Formats: sequence, structure tokens, C-alpha cells
Amino acid sequence: MPDVRMAAPVALVAAMLALAPAPAPADITAGRAAELEHMVTQDCGSCHGLTRKGGLGRPITAEALAEADLETLALIILDGVPGTAMPPWRPLITEEEARWIAGYLLKD
Ligand code: HEC
Repeated sequence: MPDVRMAAPVALVAAMLALAPAPAPADITAGRAAELEHMVTQDCGSCHGLTRKGGLGRPITAEALAEADLETLALIILDGVPGTAMPPWRPLITEEEARWIAGYLLKD
């Protein structure tokens, strides 16, 4: 006979896990945020311009990306744009960090 005392808590935990949102960008520490910010200026800036207004890569200012959504941008940052100079950053950053960068680009 199944142990009914366990069934309810297990179902509850399963429901909580299913409802748990993806880690929010807020989970990024202030120190890591500063590193990512530096990376956007230095590394992304080498192609997109120090002020992100464009260079080899197109502008990635909030204004230029106004039509883009955060998840799509995070995927572009993680996987790059094949066949172009836009490299994949997946080896260097986590998905959460890519979302943080996308949010940072969209912010200003
Ligand atoms: C070696 C040069 C280079 C570097 C470094 C680089 N990019 Fe790019 N990026 C490009 C190019 C070129 C494109 C345009 C690809 C195309 O033609 O669609 C692009 C496209 C993009 C796009 C899509 C823009 C749009 O309007 O669709 C985003 C977002 C982006 N880059 C973000 C970043 C971020 C963030 C970094 C740093 C983590 C970065 N890039 C670093 C060259 C680069």
C-alpha cells in the first residue's frame, strides 16, 4: 500500500519546483555585475563600439534594440550569429549572465 503520508509533501515539492521561475538576473552578485559591465564595454565594445553605437557590429544601444526581447538577445549573446563576426559567448558566461547582459543592454 502506498505511503499516503509521503504523497502530499512530495506532490507539493514537485508543484513548487514546477512553478519556480528561472533564476532572476538579480541573483548575479554586484562583483560579477561589475565584471560583466566591464566585458560589455571592453569585449562587446571592440566590435559594437565603446558606447555601443556600432562599429563592425551594429549598434546595441537600448534604442537600437527597442524591438528585441530579452530572451532572444540572451540567445544571440550565448550562441552568436553564425556566418558573421558575432561570436558565441557561451564558453565564458552562464545563461543567467547572458540574460543579465541582455537586460543591461535594454536598460540604457
Ligand atoms: C568580433 C566582433 C564582435 C564582438 C566581440 C561582439 N559582437 Fe555582437 N555582433 C557582431 C556582429 C558583426 C553582429 C551583426 C550580426 C549580423 O549581421 O546579424 C553582432 C550582433 C549582435 C547582436 C544582435 C543585434 C541585432 O540588432 O540583432 C547583439 C545583441 C550583440 N551582437 C551583442 C553582443 C554582445 C553583448 C557582445 C559582448 C558579450 C558582443 N555582441 C560582442 C560582432 C561582434
